[in-house]
Amino acid sequence: MSTSVKRIGVLTSGGDAPGMNAAVRAVYRACVNFGIDCLGIYRGWNGLINSEVKRLERNDVAHIINRGGTILYSARSKEFMTDEGRKKAYATCKLFGIDGIVAIGGDGTFRGALELSKYGIPVIGIPCTIDNDISSTGYTIGFDTAANTAIECIDKLRDTMQSHERCSVVEVMGRNAGYLAMYVGIAVGATAVLVPEETIDFDRDVIEKIRAARLNGFTHYMIVVAEGAMNGAYDVAEKIKDTLGLDPRVTILGHIQRGGSPTARDRVTATRMGYYAVKSLVEGKANRVVALKSGDLIDIDIIEALNMTKTLYPLDSETLRAMTGTNTYSRN
Ligand code: F6P
Repeated sequence: MSTSVKRIGVLTSGGDAPGMNAAVRAVYRACVNFGIDCLGIYRGWNGLINSEVKRLERNDVAHIINRGGTILYSARSKEFMTDEGRKKAYATCKLFGIDGIVAIGGDGTFRGALELSKYGIPVIGIPCTIDNDISSTGYTIGFDTAANTAIECIDKLRDTMQSHERCSVVEVMGRNAGYLAMYVGIAVGATAVLVPEETIDFDRDVIEKIRAARLNGFTHYMIVVAEGAMNGAYDVAEKIKDTLGLDPRVTILGHIQRGGSPTARDRVTATRMGYYAVKSLVEGKANRVVALKSGDLIDIDIIEALNMTKTLYPLDSETLRAMTGTNTYSRN
């Protein structure tokens, strides 16, 4: 394939996610395949502002497909939100001869990419966040690993909650997004799941569900709360204590969900998306984001992608109830 693209940059930005390294590796290897240079940009958009740029070599990406975190480091750049910051970033692109950028991250990363594209630098976004909250794609790299980490932890919690006949309130990540909480809640057979997207009627969505479980013979209860639902797990536990006289134990899973070796799904998705992104730049595409739709990779205009809205789950609440039993999900 003949191309005018000689050199592309790759960066990881925003909250890290397992599979970021696999995506960086795939971008590098695709560049080798197309005979172009791959420049690593360190510390997200800050790296472009501060010229933290280095040509990646084979050894830089050797044995990283299995590693959590990101070898390129990550950051949420305040300076890149300013005109001045973006001008510096553009100057770095000119200095290093960067013909295009692959930006790996979430919505915030894509917004940054859109801003840079206004200076004439072609960008392609790869969706990568444990929140799975990017509207344009059915899947974001990192979600599967994070969900499995949370499930493993909650299964362990259940053992001790069952022995002591306790109520567990466990908080999973997701300040604005309940997808992880809902998915994990279904997978662990939670008594109730609380997500930020839904209006919560505490009596209906938690208290009555615990009562129903008790009436069904259960003596331990698992309440899964997304970080951004109500005021978090401590608030939920307090209310359960006040109303039911139980003595709930709170567990915040926190950043543990962002680490660890990526699952096969995350490694393979990252590998496919990394190649797709580089191929897109080589073919002259610009300002697109890669997305997974019905198992296939597609690319979508970045502005269109940022304007899309995602439903929490592509199922109505009746179907969810039928699937999970009566005591799982809070939505009416
Ligand atoms: O966007 C990913 C995410 O892990 C969210 O689920 C969480 O709310 C947030 O990042 C935490 O950010 P930080 O690492 O800056 O505390």
